Amino acid sequence: MNSRYKRHLVTAALPYANGAVHIGHLAGVYIPADIYTRYLRMRGEDVRFICGSDEHGVPITIKAKQNNCTPQEIVDKYHLIIKDSFERLGISFDIYSRTTSATHHKTASDFFRKLYLDGKFIERESEQYYDEEANQFLADRYITGICPKCSAEDAYGDQCEKCGSTLSPTELINPKSALSGKTPVMKSTSHWYLPLDQYEPWLKEWILEGHKEWKINVYGQCKSWLDGGLMPRAVSRDLDWGVPVPVEGASGKVLYVWFDAPIGYISNTIELMPNDWERWWKSEDTKLVHFIGKDNIVFHCIVFPAMLKAHGDGYILPENVPANEFLNLEGNKISTSRNWAVWLHEYLDEFPGKEDVLRYVLCANAPETKDNDFTWKDFQTRNNSELVGIFGNFVNRAVVLTHKYFEGEVPTAVRYETVDEEVIAQIPILKKSIEESIESYKFREALREAMNLARLGNKYLTETEPWKIAKSDMERVAAILNISLQICANLAIAFEPILPHTTKKLRYILNMKSSNWSDFGNSTILIPGHKINQASLLFEKIEDSEIEFQIAKLTATKESNEMVVVESTETATTPLKDECAYEDFMKMDIRTATVLEAERVPKTDKLLRLTIDTGLDKRTIVSGIAEFYTPEEMIGKQISILANLAPRKIKGIESKGMILMAKEEGGKMRIITPEERVINGSTIS
Ligand code: 2FM
Ligand code: ZN
Repeated sequence: MNSRYKRHLVTAALPYANGAVHIGHLAGVYIPADIYTRYLRMRGEDVRFICGSDEHGVPITIKAKQNNCTPQEIVDKYHLIIKDSFERLGISFDIYSRTTSATHHKTASDFFRKLYLDGKFIERESEQYYDEEANQFLADRYITGICPKCSAEDAYGDQCEKCGSTLSPTELINPKSALSGKTPVMKSTSHWYLPLDQYEPWLKEWILEGHKEWKINVYGQCKSWLDGGLMPRAVSRDLDWGVPVPVEGASGKVLYVWFDAPIGYISNTIELMPNDWERWWKSEDTKLVHFIGKDNIVFHCIVFPAMLKAHGDGYILPENVPANEFLNLEGNKISTSRNWAVWLHEYLDEFPGKEDVLRYVLCANAPETKDNDFTWKDFQTRNNSELVGIFGNFVNRAVVLTHKYFEGEVPTAVRYETVDEEVIAQIPILKKSIEESIESYKFREALREAMNLARLGNKYLTETEPWKIAKSDMERVAAILNISLQICANLAIAFEPILPHTTKKLRYILNMKSSNWSDFGNSTILIPGHKINQASLLFEKIEDSEIEFQIAKLTATKESNEMVVVESTETATTPLKDECAYEDFMKMDIRTATVLEAERVPKTDKLLRLTIDTGLDKRTIVSGIAEFYTPEEMIGKQISILANLAPRKIKGIESKGMILMAKEEGGKMRIITPEERVINGSTIS
């Protein structure tokens, strides 16, 4: 360990409280950060692990609008879901707070005020889009229009999701306000800017010269920003959700979410240690490390350090900012809005007791140097072949044999043979390699080496075959089992940062009171005569049916995404589609029908299978409306259908036709029903 530091402050990116946490977040940030922190604690270091919900920003206000509720209600809901699921996975934060806390509002406000009073900002007038009907300036996300690059019709003011271009609102063709659907006007507004250009030489020196050891992706992104030249960045916004700008005459303005969020690390430390926090943030003896995702690099390596420097109260800077790339899911980019994700809280409900399997697979597959893919098949294989087949199998054999031959007591190793000495010599070598890997943020490598310890044990038992010599040489059996149990005890330590639930079970089996990192590497952790408990399974096999269920869930998501697009009418904010010829419209046979039967399509969340009477026939339609209607509600309802749509197979069921739906701005969908009941099969035109 680097002895220069007396304490370690570890932060993990504050997740936005507008949705739950998924496997991409875990693999990218929280699992590596937790392994690192647990490791430091085991080494006896003074550590604090800081996190909390990021509860400001425009996406939260948009989500609130969509759900017809307040931003506070949104963040209250997701803060609890996120906090609870982190706890269940065993992410060992010392504090998980939130940026709507009074402490944070005060800390962020004071921080801004200090910079303001010290003249560190520049104030600038600029013209921005304003919605005259809603009486408010429009955040970039609240403006939609035609993408100037690819002509997609629904690009946002900051980005086109179709072609991925970064945009500014004024580049959009035919801009519309997402609030009222009206064309916004330009209006002058003033904001405070942090002149990053002034910090450029200092940042170049600090990062490009001083931190060549940072991960290539992090260093590379910083270099490209710095080489491109920095510009002043606005740190306030016209919005009614956030930390109010603490300056007279700034009503209706809040701190930009990326200004207040990183201050959240400080606020949460204050909340955790109100009397001692400054020692953690303002002493060169503290090693500050930020764990983040790659989309956060510029804010943590350039903007936040510039803010800390500008503040000038002795704040320390991060010693490292290990950022990971992105994790994909079954070959596709994880998407919150399209529900293409494995959500942590759902995983925990669906795989009770298998928290560590997820930790293991996500660490083994962490996108440390490049984007990586999570597949359910790989999840199953890693569990069944590696955790059950190697780790679990080895421990089980060692413990069962000890009970069989030595009544559960650690036997004495009277003498070692060469093979024993070779195995014993490997343990400290693996330990060193795990330490080096964790300390250089290479957690996949650390996990591989820890697994190599289990592999070593497995191979040793297989080669020495104590069950074959039990009749002739019990002294030899004793030595082999002693060494095997020592390897088990070492595994209980090596895996503690990575698989804390499993090592707790393993410690119970081995009757180990604690696991100290300093014991790791020893072949005398369990003394002869020490009584161990009965074997119990550390891991269970995951069956094909469990994996098929997960894959079916994703398939249904894919299908219902398509269905929502096909079945919904456009929202008021979506630009009008191209003109349609009368003849084309007349090709569509739209009719009334009545639902006779309705049931959920098994293993899907969104699909209902409906039997309907169209007046002409009885037929089946599969529709993605299960989120909005229960089967019971649908039975007897009169609906409108596109009756001559070519049949399609959905989840193996032939669906003939499509139910017409009205989609509200908030995403809610309602069926379209005639004002009065009419004969089934009546045409709609
Ligand atoms: O990307 C995100 O999810 C942000 N909410 C991370 C913020 S990290 C820190 F600055 F708070
Ligand atoms: Zn585009």
